[in-house]
Amino acid sequence: MRGFPDSPDYTGLNSPLREEYELQDLAIEGRVPGEVEGTFFRAVPDPAFPPFREDGGAVLSGDGMISALRIGGGKASFAIRYVQTERHVAEVAAGRALFGKYRNPFTDKPEARGLDRTVANTTPVWHAGRLLMAKEDGRPYRVDPLTLATIGRHDFGGKLKSETVTAHVRIDPQTGEMFLFGYEAAGLASTKVAYCVVDKHGHLIREQWFDAPYCSMMHDFAITEHYALFPVYPTTCDLARLQAGGDHWVHEMQLDSWLGVMPRYGDVGEMRWFRGPKGVSCYHMMNAFEDAHGRVQFDQCLSNVNAFPFIQRASGLNVAPGDLGGRLARWSIDLKTGADAVTETTIGPPGDLPVIPAASQGRPYTHGWMLTMNQGLQAPPVAGGPVGAMFNMLLRLDFTGKPPKGLALPPGQCFSEPVHVPSTAPGHEGWLLSIVDQQTGAEDFKHAVWIIDAGNLGAGPTARIAVPHRLRPQVHGWWVGAAELAAAQSARSRASFR
Ligand SMILES: [Fe+2]
Repeated sequence: MRGFPDSPDYTGLNSPLREEYELQDLAIEGRVPGEVEGTFFRAVPDPAFPPFREDGGAVLSGDGMISALRIGGGKASFAIRYVQTERHVAEVAAGRALFGKYRNPFTDKPEARGLDRTVANTTPVWHAGRLLMAKEDGRPYRVDPLTLATIGRHDFGGKLKSETVTAHVRIDPQTGEMFLFGYEAAGLASTKVAYCVVDKHGHLIREQWFDAPYCSMMHDFAITEHYALFPVYPTTCDLARLQAGGDHWVHEMQLDSWLGVMPRYGDVGEMRWFRGPKGVSCYHMMNAFEDAHGRVQFDQCLSNVNAFPFIQRASGLNVAPGDLGGRLARWSIDLKTGADAVTETTIGPPGDLPVIPAASQGRPYTHGWMLTMNQGLQAPPVAGGPVGAMFNMLLRLDFTGKPPKGLALPPGQCFSEPVHVPSTAPGHEGWLLSIVDQQTGAEDFKHAVWIIDAGNLGAGPTARIAVPHRLRPQVHGWWVGAAELAAAQSARSRASFR
């Protein structure tokens, strides 16, 4: 790509595409289940301009694009547009990059001073009829779910005080409330964490701040029916380092990890901190719940060190992918005792990008899915994504004692994070939708959306929808059913006629 470095962040599957487009009447192979009707939203980082300096976190700095795969009436279409963040608008106006290293404003061009740095590229969050594009370093941007046009930065009607909202929210399946948080809530390297509750109508009804044990990359969190859980892993930020032009994140193996637990409708003063192992790292939780004995169980895709190569380099670490010690780990805590540490058990293999049915959120659950590397594949994984290697196997994990089941791809193919579509049929586990990339040459790929029976992965895809255009790897996705979209649209139409 002209002007971009010849590095893994900008070549192969990671090649910048920088194109907004729409495709109608996609070719469908197989049968799309009738209940898979709605939109698969995806957040895709894609740098609009070549960087003006080296940046190890470049894949994470890509300008956010919102993509929509729409399925209904036996047809499918695809669209993708840039989120018009303040940063993107400023760079388009300048015709070049203005922002420097990943999450370090001290490396920016003077023209970028004071501008919102977020690229809104991590998760499309759907709640209360609104679509938000979120990234943990800023406030989310609201996007029109039909046109994908950017509406503007979303601060819950001026109520939000935190400077940040993470890309991982939790929505209670019974109350419809959205629980969210933001770290570095008071600015760069701040230990302040904002914890917020948004009611089912989208109103921010509570925001409280607390101090984390240290400033940490708190990418995700979890809720149970009665508690909110805040994990802290020792990937840390330091203001003096940023001011010296250094990296936002360094992983510190000697530091303890922590799990903060408080009643989810309580006061942050009630937070109890439980010590976890030193040096561990995790990006995503599968779920959390209270068991029959009242203990809190917290399930996460844990590893012994931060897996991102650019963070390892900044930390003086060099751990091979096979030595990360990845596992699906359950941390158990008993709030009735005076214990001040978590108890860990391994409940699954290495992997990431966990998915559960929305109805299982925060509740005891029997199964979930995640992506992993097929250890039996006699070929390297497809290079790409922020870590540099794409997952090539989809797993169904069973927590009732049954063994995991998987769907392995052939060499040269990879999965992106699936979304789950519930089924209305009794006993049916629903459907998983995932983009599958197939490498056909050094810079050549084919892409399709696979629709898979979530309870029968071994059967392979029920349907494949071809996307006849190069795609860049997504980060996270979100499924919104057709009825929900239609209800949101009619509510907006009514509001506009008032
Ligand atoms: Fe994430």
